[in-house]
Amino acid sequence: MEKKNFYLTTPIYYPNSNLHLGHTYTTIVADVLKKYKKSQGYDVFFTTGTDEHGQKLQDSAIKAGKKPLEYIDPIVESAKKLWKTLDIDFDAFVRSTDPIHERNVSNIFTKLYEKGEIYKGSYKGKYCVPCESFWTDSQLIDGCKCPDCKREVIESQEETYFFRLSKYGDKLLKFYKEHPDFIKPESRKNEMITFIKEGLTDLSVTRSSFDWGVKVPFDKKHVVYVWIDALSCYLTGIGYGTDEEKFNKFWPCDVHLVGKEIMRFHAIIWPAILMALDLPLPKKIFGHGWILFDDDKMSKSKGNVVYAEPIIERYGMDALRYFMLREFTFGQDGNFTYRKMLNRINSDLVNDLGNLVSRTVSMCEKYFEGFVPERYEENSIDEDLIQMAISCRDKVRCEMDDLNFSQALEEIWKLVRRTNKYIDETTPWILAKEEKFKRLSTVIYNLLDTIRIISALIKPFMQETSKKINTQIGVCDCNYEDLLSFGLLKVGTKVFKGENLFDRLDVEKEIEIISKENLKLLEKRKNQLVQQNSDKNTQEKITIDDFSKIELKVGKILECKEHPKADRLLVFKIDIGNEIRTIVSGIKKYYSKEDLIGKKVIVVTNLKPVNLRSVESNGMILSASDGENLSVLTVLSDMKEGSKVS
Ligand code: ME8
Repeated sequence: MEKKNFYLTTPIYYPNSNLHLGHTYTTIVADVLKKYKKSQGYDVFFTTGTDEHGQKLQDSAIKAGKKPLEYIDPIVESAKKLWKTLDIDFDAFVRSTDPIHERNVSNIFTKLYEKGEIYKGSYKGKYCVPCESFWTDSQLIDGCKCPDCKREVIESQEETYFFRLSKYGDKLLKFYKEHPDFIKPESRKNEMITFIKEGLTDLSVTRSSFDWGVKVPFDKKHVVYVWIDALSCYLTGIGYGTDEEKFNKFWPCDVHLVGKEIMRFHAIIWPAILMALDLPLPKKIFGHGWILFDDDKMSKSKGNVVYAEPIIERYGMDALRYFMLREFTFGQDGNFTYRKMLNRINSDLVNDLGNLVSRTVSMCEKYFEGFVPERYEENSIDEDLIQMAISCRDKVRCEMDDLNFSQALEEIWKLVRRTNKYIDETTPWILAKEEKFKRLSTVIYNLLDTIRIISALIKPFMQETSKKINTQIGVCDCNYEDLLSFGLLKVGTKVFKGENLFDRLDVEKEIEIISKENLKLLEKRKNQLVQQNSDKNTQEKITIDDFSKIELKVGKILECKEHPKADRLLVFKIDIGNEIRTIVSGIKKYYSKEDLIGKKVIVVTNLKPVNLRSVESNGMILSASDGENLSVLTVLSDMKEGSKVS
């Protein structure tokens, strides 16, 4: 059989030491899809990774007192460890800081620039520092808050390079029309079309306000901004720029799996960049919904985070994978609760699947000494079961082709439930009592061979469980083609009744236990963070000599004006005894100008001057902050300007 290729990706994740259940959703789905496609005979390649550049990361590293990579490396390791725990079988893990990737980004940027797809300009607008995004006035909430994180934006202007996104609107709409399966689900396509029809503007693709990123090769004060950098990881993963054969084998991508909030970047910006690079476009972008907790998006600050680790530890990875894919419709938001999960484990895994396997294998042991018995003449009940068993593969395929994971599992479970019903209809225990051995033999054979098919069908979702079932019914593996034939289980094979596949759970008791376990992990992770910061404090103790290098003086504020270019900054004239200094400070949010003029403050006077949005600042005003409030430092009794502070 000719090998067919399949390339799939998840987003590359922001390094986050607290990856929660929501984050694991895309990767679990991708892994199931990979295993499913492999079972169909495809050569599959799966790329994931981490998105490691940008101001937010640079700031976090500085806060932790570390260099960016020193800060990021352990977080990336913890993400990889989680994927390993979840049995995620990725082929490429691209870190956006990998030198090969950085070289690709640099080359892609240059190519786009040389083709005239990128040009230099200047950008003025409302900027959200945490989200690293500029927003238009109409996008802001209450005129001043970021629509994504709801924090206040700042006025910002900077020289930047633009990608000519505006010229791609019509081309994208035409492409969507000619490729109806490009954006899925349908509702997301409508959102994209509306967005494009409102008019695309050119996209700012560099930043000069921070330097943690890939430098623009011909203009080193700019770094390539997150989206060209991050999206290009999908190319790096399959050898773009390093392994042409592999790249040609797997590109264009078959499916990019992404969360709904980053759909615009994947369905509009990414195809436009690829068009500009003369590369073929991916075949499908699928925007899935969010896993919510208490109908709210999970977030550590809200304290409503559910982690995968305690669930895996207590109920096993397969139970979690099954639940995530069966319970939630891929494409829509879904509300996670422990109760829903535990009920599903009890009903679908313990009652339906577990019971079927354990009853059948027990009966084979009891009536046939554990050897697969012969199959004799069949009646219409048998034929009904057999028909359903051999038609299940293609029903599952139809659902999997549309990434309807929940429906695919429902098709398999229809067969599981039908097989359980077959036991009730044929009543093997009565056949045994009445010594109808040929009929009993046929019934047990049919049950075992149907279980062979079920086990192969669930394998991409629950590999371990499938393996356990195969051990119990004495088969090694069952390939995709064999799912269309009945009667392949060899008569005389020894079956083996092992442990229960899943144990019945006391829902109320378990909710209590698992909630506590989750909370424990949440606390542990919070404490780790606190510990890291205090480690930093102890590591960074300075000597009296270090301290004496800082020159501190009492200064009197003579003048205080708005910064001409930055909303949140004030420009001060301060008398420090022997001279008047200009100092720019970000305390505008906390004081009005009138409060400050004439006040005595403490000034660091030997700082190197810095240019803050075209105004040279020559020193720093000291203040105390608890994160929310801020107070400028002063002296208790009146001291002369220029008095030394020590
Ligand atoms: O967006 N439910 O990274 P990220 C479902 N670096 N999915 C969720 C979720 C939840 N509660 N929370 C997060 C980024 N996700 C960029 C991507 S790709 C070129 C750059 C999903 O770490 C989210 O929707 O914020 C996204 O698909 C993925 O986790 C990574 O999010």
